Amino acid sequence: MTSLINVNKSEKKEVISKHIYGHFAEHLGRCIYEGIWVGEDSPIPNTRGIRNDVVEALKKLNIPNLRWPGGCFADEYHWKDGIGPRESRPSIVNNNWGKVVENNHFGTHEFLDLCEQIDAEPYICGNVGSGTVQEMQEWIEYITFDGKSPMADLRRKNGRDKPWKLKYFGIGNENWGCGGKMKVEYYADLYRRFQTFVRDFQDTPIYKIACGPSEADYHWTEVMMREGIGRTEPFPDSVVTDIWEHHRPEMHGLALHFYTRNRANYDSATEFSEEKWFDYMKRTYVMEELIQKHTAIMDKYDPEKNVDLIVDEWGTWFNVEPGTNPGFLYQQNTLRDALVAGINLNIFNNNCDRVHMANIAQMINVLQAMILTDGKDMILTPTYHVFEMYKVHQDATLLPVSVSTGSYTYGEDSLPMLNVSASQARSGKVHISVCNLDPNHSEKITCNLNEIKDFSTASGRILTAESMNEHNTFEATNRIMPTVFDEIELHHDTISFTIPSKSVLVIEVQ
Ligand code: AHR
Repeated sequence: MTSLINVNKSEKKEVISKHIYGHFAEHLGRCIYEGIWVGEDSPIPNTRGIRNDVVEALKKLNIPNLRWPGGCFADEYHWKDGIGPRESRPSIVNNNWGKVVENNHFGTHEFLDLCEQIDAEPYICGNVGSGTVQEMQEWIEYITFDGKSPMADLRRKNGRDKPWKLKYFGIGNENWGCGGKMKVEYYADLYRRFQTFVRDFQDTPIYKIACGPSEADYHWTEVMMREGIGRTEPFPDSVVTDIWEHHRPEMHGLALHFYTRNRANYDSATEFSEEKWFDYMKRTYVMEELIQKHTAIMDKYDPEKNVDLIVDEWGTWFNVEPGTNPGFLYQQNTLRDALVAGINLNIFNNNCDRVHMANIAQMINVLQAMILTDGKDMILTPTYHVFEMYKVHQDATLLPVSVSTGSYTYGEDSLPMLNVSASQARSGKVHISVCNLDPNHSEKITCNLNEIKDFSTASGRILTAESMNEHNTFEATNRIMPTVFDEIELHHDTISFTIPSKSVLVIEVQ
């Protein structure tokens, strides 16, 4: 059978925000300590304590933004513990993640240095669960105020004269859970209060992100939107028209969290049958339903789409690798994770009219990571390769696709075999990313490029492997990596090719 992909131009010219390709690094397990921070005296080559090999690898992903310090850690984090001379910083207990001792050597200055090294915008999550309004207000002043003030002077004393640029700020994390077990009615009021004191000291106002729903908690979204906390003017050109508008709380983004996991029984990341392959593909498709249903509620209160949906935690969540600390969430990463990443990113691209940002959890050594480290060694995961292949979609114009495809059937159940998104870059190049979920069958595809007729070349890169659970290890670092895919036939206004089973393919047409 042949599948048909129709790539269309749209009047709406929606842009796939580069921030959909964002990342998340929490003080959790070996993400910050060892994964990023090794300290200035480490034998591992580093720049001001941040390891060079990891920075070099991350730079190749064009990371647009990085969320920090959590996660659950954020609502127990007191930022003043992480500034000043490192030897004087207090040690604290990381209560959420293994109850290990955190020495606070990686704090505000080190995080913002990392962002500068990888050229990513910082996205800081503030503490609502156990912090104070004053503490949050002072953090913003410390980071962004250029004049003379107690916090700006403290920053200077700690070695940074000029303020940093900070656009994205989260008002708490998972405040329905580890961030305070709050009801949404209570959190909505707290949000109004805390965000009032997140002041703007820079040319670009701070983009405030509220804790959003867990998975299918539609009541949370309903209340947050109903309480009138959506902004009234598009960010960042808002014009204050009257005193009521001036006092109206602002919410620029609402953050949904959804992981691809089986909470009833966490599965192995590497040892699995086709049943589990299918199961995780099916769980991944739930993201589409969640985005559409939360968007429908947001549309009701905000038809102009002023408030963005932010998916600032997503990815696979498996059992930890045998023999590792259960509180560290260290898992391997296989071809199955690559498909999960490719499908999710296609879903975000296709819903970019509402989804402005997404942050995969997490960047290094935790959950669906880009990079795994073992002492001085480092490997890139299949998920890293998908992010590298898909970076062509960043800030490109969405080309809506319609797909007529067969099914991937397992037992009595079935899913669409192909999952696709497409975009056109400013250079005019068109990129089509196609995931073939079926681990047993390749598929012949005709791709109709409709109005995009003046093309003369088509090339591709593919990520696939012989087995569903192929992964890189510290002994075999390049078992799975992208290869050139050049079996593409060009016709007048179509291209055709056969996508191998279980693969992620990105085609470039120009
Ligand atoms: O990413 C791991 C944890 O998952 C985060 O700390 C928390 O926000 C979520 O429950």
